[in-house]
Amino acid sequence: MTTLSLAPMQDVSTLAFWRVMEKRGGPDVYITEYFRVHIHSTPEKKILASINESGIDKPIIAQMIGTDPAHLARTATLLQEISDCSGIDINLGCPSPRVCGRAAGGALLKNHDLIREIVETLRPLVKGTLSLKTRVGFESEAEFTDLLRLFRDLPIDSLAIHGRTVKERYQSEVHTGEIAQAVESLSIPVHANGSIVTTETARAMMAKTGAAGLMIGRGAIRNPFLFSQIRQMVNDQDIVSPTLSDHLRYVEDLYEEVAKTAWNFEERKHVQRMKKFMNYIASGISEGEFSLEIRRVQSADEFWAVCHRHLGGSQLLPDEPTADGKLFCGFRELTV
Ligand SMILES: Cc1cc2nc3c(=O)[nH]c(=O)nc-3n(C[C@H](O)[C@H](O)[C@H](O)COP(=O)(O)O)c2cc1C
Repeated sequence: MTTLSLAPMQDVSTLAFWRVMEKRGGPDVYITEYFRVHIHSTPEKKILASINESGIDKPIIAQMIGTDPAHLARTATLLQEISDCSGIDINLGCPSPRVCGRAAGGALLKNHDLIREIVETLRPLVKGTLSLKTRVGFESEAEFTDLLRLFRDLPIDSLAIHGRTVKERYQSEVHTGEIAQAVESLSIPVHANGSIVTTETARAMMAKTGAAGLMIGRGAIRNPFLFSQIRQMVNDQDIVSPTLSDHLRYVEDLYEEVAKTAWNFEERKHVQRMKKFMNYIASGISEGEFSLEIRRVQSADEFWAVCHRHLGGSQLLPDEPTADGKLFCGFRELTV
């Protein structure tokens, strides 16, 4: 059975979001946003709370980003003491210039010796699973052959691959051939990631790569029923599509859960916070009108007026998001 995981997403993969996902079936595994690790770092309380207070009875993996093996080791040890995490994951994919400028995240792909040192330092300390989340290269997917040679030697339990290079950020087709190559040559489970937004794209990713797992990010923000739908597809059951009423209930639920976990609730700030999710949630609905209108709202009244104008009723949520080249792209190419 394919393992489904919710991708780590900064400011999105939060306690509130996970609770909302879980009510709709959720993935098999959750991964936190990254804990930033450096000489002065202590684990961020908000991310710790997502592990310790979620009440979710499924594995939760703590992701870390950093470069110094000693500080990563210190943090991994601490996280295992003070949280209920089931494993530790290292971020080798973040394309942010701020992160890469410090040689962390995706920039680590340029330093194989350091990746090896980090993994070998962490391995004896990590009691649960130790995994990596990578891309297929920094500049070019041609780097992947050497990366695979490295991964093959490392004492890790699984590998998640976002099928783009760091340079490609989120705006390209997904390199499924490289993921398939990893599945072929590694003995550990590989989780395929990138632009899975529908059951059709999930099916295509499985067929093209043979991966043991699928990791889904933005597609699950847009459609929180996606994990349940993929399970229905895999089990040859009828796939139940959410209606626009289900979608409205999703937004209501998210609004409430995000408010509950806010340190200091202020309506206008809360509406702004919701927009981070709404960009994805609105995609594909009312030919772009919903997205445009929700971007302009300031107050809760305006927010709900727009939501009620575009959501509700028995019409089905459009199967696909809009291929806008920014929030969503490269998913149609997966099925070709
Ligand atoms: C808003 C946002 C925040 C993200 N934050 C992280 C992160 O903290 N750690 C990480 O490894 N990847 C992060 N990613 C990358 C995702 O985990 C995932 O690899 C990427 O979005 C591709 O998958 P998708 O097409 O299913 O969204 C982030 C992506 C988005 C859109």
